[in-house]
Amino acid sequence: MANEHFGVVVLGAGAAGMMTAIEAGRRGRSVLLLDHARNPGEKIRISGGGRCNFTNVHATHTTARERFLGQNPRFALSALSRYTPENFTAMVRRHGIAYHEKTLGQLFCDNSAVEIITMLVSELRRAGVTMRLGCEIRGVERPAERFEIDTSDGRITADSVVVATGGKSIPKMGATNFGYQLAQKFGLRVTETRPALVPLTFEPGALERLKPLAGVSTPATVSHAKTRFDEALLFTHRGLSGPAILQISSYWREGDAIVVDLLPDQDAMEMLQHARATTPKLAVQTVLGAALPRRLAQMLGESLALPGMIGDFSDKKLQIVADQVSNWRLKPVGSEGYRTAEVTLGGVDTRDLDAKTLEARDVPGLYFIGEVVDVTGWLGGYNFQWAWASGFAAGQVV
Ligand code: FDA
Repeated sequence: MANEHFGVVVLGAGAAGMMTAIEAGRRGRSVLLLDHARNPGEKIRISGGGRCNFTNVHATHTTARERFLGQNPRFALSALSRYTPENFTAMVRRHGIAYHEKTLGQLFCDNSAVEIITMLVSELRRAGVTMRLGCEIRGVERPAERFEIDTSDGRITADSVVVATGGKSIPKMGATNFGYQLAQKFGLRVTETRPALVPLTFEPGALERLKPLAGVSTPATVSHAKTRFDEALLFTHRGLSGPAILQISSYWREGDAIVVDLLPDQDAMEMLQHARATTPKLAVQTVLGAALPRRLAQMLGESLALPGMIGDFSDKKLQIVADQVSNWRLKPVGSEGYRTAEVTLGGVDTRDLDAKTLEARDVPGLYFIGEVVDVTGWLGGYNFQWAWASGFAAGQVV
């Protein structure tokens, strides 16, 4: 039987792969989109708590150097400047999907993430893309000019192959290291990969103190070296989570401490001095309880072990309390890993890719897009914007 032939074969029907397939199909290319999962866009479905934070109005080339991590922070600029959050949002509006800005420029569906998947699938159909799901990809070769893809549904040849198989996070949803291995097989470098946007864990002693706070959420500033995030902090049974922690996890490395300010909008020392002057008979724990969640204030009060009325505290003693509240140094021992990480930091080395087209510099016709590339965004819609923008860029040229 003759091999099936397509102009473009896209490996991975996630956010990036669907976008490339749509764009290439619109240009009249014959496109096959392959995935081993039974449904396309599984990560879109679970994203944003089921409402998909599909982009961020600030996820543009102007913020990219700060808000996208990778060995070359400039790499993402080209694709991000040619496909903006407004471009994607225009498609969302065209499909009549209701959305809102939640906070910090984050755009979410009003109803369900499934609407984004339905939109992309209908665009795929309109663009004439063939989609094959539940299809195992056994290998990709390039014996001559064409690529040969060995799949559970047979052998396929293609002029171009786009690798959009994503990162390693959430393996139980089908994430694999396929894209990294394929890159290496074709001679591309792959930078060190690690889980990112992930809850941090603590040694048993520290965990014992934190555990009773499981479920408590409070606004905080969390810092690591010069990087800081002002967002919510969530105590869990396993350690710390919440947007502020997920964000800082992309910067944190083993052995480092993080610093937590639990009163981000106040000067803790001033607050305590004011309490000493106005409510001198209160215990420190009670004073903290007016500014912080009660269980958190109680834990801090107990760990400070400073009994007595605040009216009797010297400035030195108040400073100890203020430091505990505003300069709380914590040393995570690890993270929850790929099991819960939202993304993978690192990936296909951008030195080996063309920033404009995402094509491998030394392998004409081979492209890498989305999370498999060493480009990782902040929490809040940045990673989908990279998936759409890199998918769009490759889709214009494959
Ligand atoms: P993606 O992972 O989406 O797709 C890869 C595809 O390749 C999958 O369909 C997979 O089945 C397939 N595949 C993998 N290996 C294969 C193989 N060997 N053979 C065949 N197919 C294979 N981002 C954001 O901006 N806003 C948000 O709200 C969220 N929320 C969020 C929540 C959770 C729980 C997670 C885990 C992640 C997020 N993210 C996010 C991150 C976002 O989901 C992620 O960055 C993008 O989905 C990446 O898109 P890609 O298309 O590159 O990979």
